[in-house]
Amino acid sequence: MKKSILEKFSLKGKVAVISGTTRGLGQSLAEALAEAGASVVALDRSDTPHMRRFCKAAGTPFERIRVDLVKASKKDLERIAEGIVKKHSRVDILVNNAGISRRGEVWEFTEKDWRDVLKVNLTVPFCLSRAFAKTFMQQGSGKIIKIASMLSFQGGIRVPAYASSKHGIVGLTKSFAIGLGPYGVNVNAIAPGFMATDLTLPLQQDPDRNASILKRIPIGRWGSGDDLKGTLIFLASPLSDYVNGAVIPVDGGWLAS
Ligand code: NAI
Repeated sequence: MKKSILEKFSLKGKVAVISGTTRGLGQSLAEALAEAGASVVALDRSDTPHMRRFCKAAGTPFERIRVDLVKASKKDLERIAEGIVKKHSRVDILVNNAGISRRGEVWEFTEKDWRDVLKVNLTVPFCLSRAFAKTFMQQGSGKIIKIASMLSFQGGIRVPAYASSKHGIVGLTKSFAIGLGPYGVNVNAIAPGFMATDLTLPLQQDPDRNASILKRIPIGRWGSGDDLKGTLIFLASPLSDYVNGAVIPVDGGWLAS
């Protein structure tokens, strides 16, 4: 029987891998995947008691694989991907969410900060996308969703590594979309606007920055993880099968203003 439009949003029976789910946007995104029925495999360096409880209540399997994405080698990431595919016999959705930022003036920004940020925000998404690519290709289906940023389009203030990594995520999204599209795999990115999480605490707590940010958002408030759930589930579902290489802003209108 033909599925209804609402049934097509269901992720029942799908296996979703997502990095960084202990808090912030990743936690909300993982909640959405679980609510839509997917089994959730979380990659994080810390434990995720909230997600464990949430998935139990939602009746979906949850597993956390411990990994520090600053330290993980290419081999570690490949081993993790192989283990997930072996255990579940498939993988349907990869969400590259985990991200870090370091602040500093461009003239004194350290190479260590540069390396760590580029590693977590760009190299890890590349390595994990590559590690799962063959499985997606063999299945003839798969959804890779990257988390970009307003700083995929702008330079930001005192965040040279972060802005560079998020510009890079757009290139990575497009190149993988071109490479994997012919195999039935969609690769897209969500570009959240200014979202109230730990990552943006320094901005929220700076009265001048906070006021200037709010002034530019037509919707008039900071975003939250809940604001990303609809776009994520759309991009993870078959309803987005013809969306490929897109970077979708969810920003309250920031880019438009
Ligand atoms: P957050 O700092 O609140 O959470 C980051 C998550 O990544 C946590 O679960 C943390 O445990 C995990 N993580 C961090 N370093 C890790 C490491 N070395 N190894 C393993 N896991 C690690 O950040 P937030 O705000 O939730 O950001 C999530 C994503 O959204 C990032 O890619 C960020 O760049 C992006 N983003 C955030 C925006 C915002 O306004 N908060 C705006 C645009 C993009």
